[in-house]
Amino acid sequence: MGSSQVQGELWSARAREWAELQEGSFRPLYEAAFAAAGVGRGSTVLDVGCGAGLALQIAQARGATGSGLDAAAGLAAIARQRCPGSDIRLGDSETLPFPDASFDVTTGFNSFQYAADPVRALAEARRVTRPNGCVVIAVWGERERCQLAPYLAAVGRLLPPPPPGAPGPFALSAPGALEALAEPAGLRPEAARTVTTSMRFADEATALRGLLASGAVERAIRTSGEDMVRGGIAEAIRPGRQSDGSYVFANEWRFLVSRV
Ligand SMILES: C[S@@+](CC[C@H](N)C(=O)[O-])C[C@H]1O[C@@H](n2cnc3c(N)ncnc32)[C@H](O)[C@@H]1O
Repeated sequence: MGSSQVQGELWSARAREWAELQEGSFRPLYEAAFAAAGVGRGSTVLDVGCGAGLALQIAQARGATGSGLDAAAGLAAIARQRCPGSDIRLGDSETLPFPDASFDVTTGFNSFQYAADPVRALAEARRVTRPNGCVVIAVWGERERCQLAPYLAAVGRLLPPPPPGAPGPFALSAPGALEALAEPAGLRPEAARTVTTSMRFADEATALRGLLASGAVERAIRTSGEDMVRGGIAEAIRPGRQSDGSYVFANEWRFLVSRV
């Protein structure tokens, strides 16, 4: 099975929880990226790895026409409900089913790095974007500025051992790393920026429901069992507990705007 079939199945498992409990926290990242890429009235935007479609909803609210593609049928179905009139396809970021130069702006919010060959996925993003249009790549910021880093580490310990040298979640977070990925894809890097977002959950049960909803966690559950994963995550997120019992995590994101 290719990366998109494997990832799509994993990311579909708890699509509703992702959409309702995690995705909303990324709103400031989407807004900052669309502002930096000049998305406004009349823009055409493709969101690669569009998930449940909140970024596309935000692009539409700015006056853009949105299209999306994701590997996960469960997430794409939610995106279609949320973005009526948008062209949302199921597919693989490495083979985008759109003609050359179709969009003003192509974005990938935490998605290009899931491709088996991220440079190929970025070359595809470049192909479907018009000359002088923008491609935006967004990934986790630096580990020290991500309060969910212990959660990611706990999940990593419950996954099958990665092949030697396999990139971890922060592999693209250092200054210059996104540029080093974009250039071989034929993109011209411009501004790299960081945005800090805040993820909030009302209580521990809700935090666990939300934080179980990702492809990596689903793979950890299938490897180590749900009880182990719940226990590991509950311990890792304890520092985020507030005096009222809610959980809050501030996380940095890095995004790069490149020209085609
Ligand atoms: C971290 S989630 C981000 C989702 C969305 N961009 C957001 O900000 O909420 C990663 C997304 O990438 C999608 N994905 C993973 N591998 C993919 C591939 N090869 N092609 C297309 N989408 C992929 C997953 O299904 C998932 O929706």
